[in-house]
Amino acid sequence: MRVVEKIDEMRRLRHTLSEPVGFVPTMGYLHEGHLSLVRGARDENPSVVVSIFVNPTQFGPHDDLAKYPRDIERDLALLQKEKTDLVFMPSAAEIYPPHFDSWVEVNGVTERLEGASRPGHFKGVTTVVAKLFNIVRPTRAYFGQKDAQQAAVIRKMVSDLNMDLKIVILPTVREPDGLAMSSRNTYLNPEERRTAVVLHRALTLAQQLFSQGERDGEVIRQQMISLIEKEPLANTEYVSVADAETLAELGRINSPALVSLAVKIGKTRLIDNYVLCKDKKPTP
Ligand code: PAF
Repeated sequence: MRVVEKIDEMRRLRHTLSEPVGFVPTMGYLHEGHLSLVRGARDENPSVVVSIFVNPTQFGPHDDLAKYPRDIERDLALLQKEKTDLVFMPSAAEIYPPHFDSWVEVNGVTERLEGASRPGHFKGVTTVVAKLFNIVRPTRAYFGQKDAQQAAVIRKMVSDLNMDLKIVILPTVREPDGLAMSSRNTYLNPEERRTAVVLHRALTLAQQLFSQGERDGEVIRQQMISLIEKEPLANTEYVSVADAETLAELGRINSPALVSLAVKIGKTRLIDNYVLCKDKKPTP
């Protein structure tokens, strides 16, 4: 496994990789969710590139960039085990040199949910992902369903800007109690960790209501909110039942619909989602 920090070096080594190339962009502090993406990439491509870059431009003034968890040595050991070919680990100055002044921005699908709660977040994500795609030039890039809106935004960018690669979205990986894996779970103290499973419980409730025939988006939203608000450490930021592609809120649910939520558990903001779809098995 080669580890490179410079764009020129990444480009040079890219030429030596066997085609097709699978790419997993990450911000490090890897967990099973990331590793499932690396394995997905490995299954479909003879070469796998992973990037580790904590992208400053996708953090807002109230998100604590400096506090974002990092453990490069552990990450590299895990990637080595997964037989990653190349790890691209640039510095912030390499990606955003002085006088950097070009941005990639997707409208519409970015304006709701995470986009509304975190202004500027998706502009940072699409800019860095577009840059990484230009540098790595992958055949396929892998993202998790856990960040459903990010996946929809990246698909839209790739389609609108005619980027020549395939976006592959792989299922959310969960802890045994249902909590979606996330680097942010490490911020939770034991009591908050117990409370955090409420996101999964709310999604399970949505899915039960849907399979019992409920098609009113507002009824599902309200029932989920009531369940979450019973937890003293949990504060709902949003609960959404939306069109899975445009993310426009639905009154009446036409399958498939994306149920998503952002909940603060203590000071930690967690997100999760599930796609409601008539023919799907009833466990998120
Ligand atoms: O999902 C993430 O970890 C980040 O948003 C990404 C896609 C690596 C861009 O910084």
